[in-house]
Amino acid sequence: MAMSPPGNAILYNALLRPGAKTARPSFIFNMSPGKTIEEIAQSARRELGAASDEAVLEAWRIAHLGRKASLTIFLRSLAELAPEERRKAGADANRLKAELEEAFAEKRSQLQAARIERTVETGRIDVTLPGRPVRLGRLHPITQTLREILAAFESQGFSVVEGPEVELDYYNFEALRIPKEHPARELMDTFYIDRADESDGRLLLRTHTSPNQVRFMEKHQPPIRIVVPGKTYRNEATDPTHEWMITQVEVLAVDEGITLAHLKGTLFEFAKRIFGRERKIRFRCDYFPFVEPGVDMAIDCFLCGGGGCRTCKNEGWIEILGAGMVHPEILTNMGYDTNIYTGFAAGLGVERIAMLRHGVDDIRHFYANDLRFLRQF
Ligand code: FA5
Repeated sequence: MAMSPPGNAILYNALLRPGAKTARPSFIFNMSPGKTIEEIAQSARRELGAASDEAVLEAWRIAHLGRKASLTIFLRSLAELAPEERRKAGADANRLKAELEEAFAEKRSQLQAARIERTVETGRIDVTLPGRPVRLGRLHPITQTLREILAAFESQGFSVVEGPEVELDYYNFEALRIPKEHPARELMDTFYIDRADESDGRLLLRTHTSPNQVRFMEKHQPPIRIVVPGKTYRNEATDPTHEWMITQVEVLAVDEGITLAHLKGTLFEFAKRIFGRERKIRFRCDYFPFVEPGVDMAIDCFLCGGGGCRTCKNEGWIEILGAGMVHPEILTNMGYDTNIYTGFAAGLGVERIAMLRHGVDDIRHFYANDLRFLRQF
């Protein structure tokens, strides 16, 4: 293998030659004849001592400690040596490396201090000026709202659990009574993930957090009270109240004797905590294949107070969640006795709730990454 030595680098030919298991005395692990590790050390020390500014020092670092430095190449090639040689040669070279790194750091501090001193002396820094304020970061408004929502449910005895964002078709649709060709799939235009082996079904970005109902019930017995937060994805056109990536919180309670009254009571309590007592709440019948009966819950529009505007699409109400009693077929599939156990579930849209709480008139502001917007929260 032909190698041309860069600058003062010493090439360790014996070590770099493929398959060279030759036993060479480690104290002369030099590549160009006649140079020893001591000589490398001496020239590195000498050049470091002579480095008079930070640019020269950086060039020194690259030449002696960089990826192509002879010491680095040597260390990488140690595996080629016989074991007894490797130990000694490795120890010597590592010692030298540590010494050079320490000397470099010290020299750098000296040169930096000297530069700052020179700058202050020449009057280019006014050390009496007040410092610039450091802007503190903050939580994203959706994270803030999400934490408040979770707290509202935790205080009612719910625990937080999580599930995967990349989901199997089975959990996202099939197990929730949404088979292929079911029209409910149309409502959740889906991002599928292509992969060579689809023997366990198709992979997709979950379109809602409801798959976690099944994932949790598969592994646990009632009583169950959980909330599952997370990102969900739908391939849909955006408008003031629709995004293609949204945060949902799934709510699931399964126990003996759970009724629609528990569902309403729990969601009313949550809504009162988040929106205050003066806000109006509307429940309407809705259809979701995995609940029976199904409802949606809406809050009166914060902008028009219910009169109708662009944000609420002239409806006066903004839907924030879908809910219902867990379909008995799903409970049976989980092995639960439906003579004993019933349950309710809900899926909340966090962005819509954040819009209502803060009076944001377009959902797309949340992910536009405009700091002028985000700093208001
Ligand atoms: C669902 O996603 C059901 N999984 C909810 C559910 C869970 C029903 C458990 C019954 C039992 P829906 O597609 O309606 O339902 O979405 C639920 C909430 O997410 C909506 O009320 C809304 O607040 C929010 N949401 C849904 N799609 C969007 C979107 N594109 N942009 C903003 N928010 C959305």
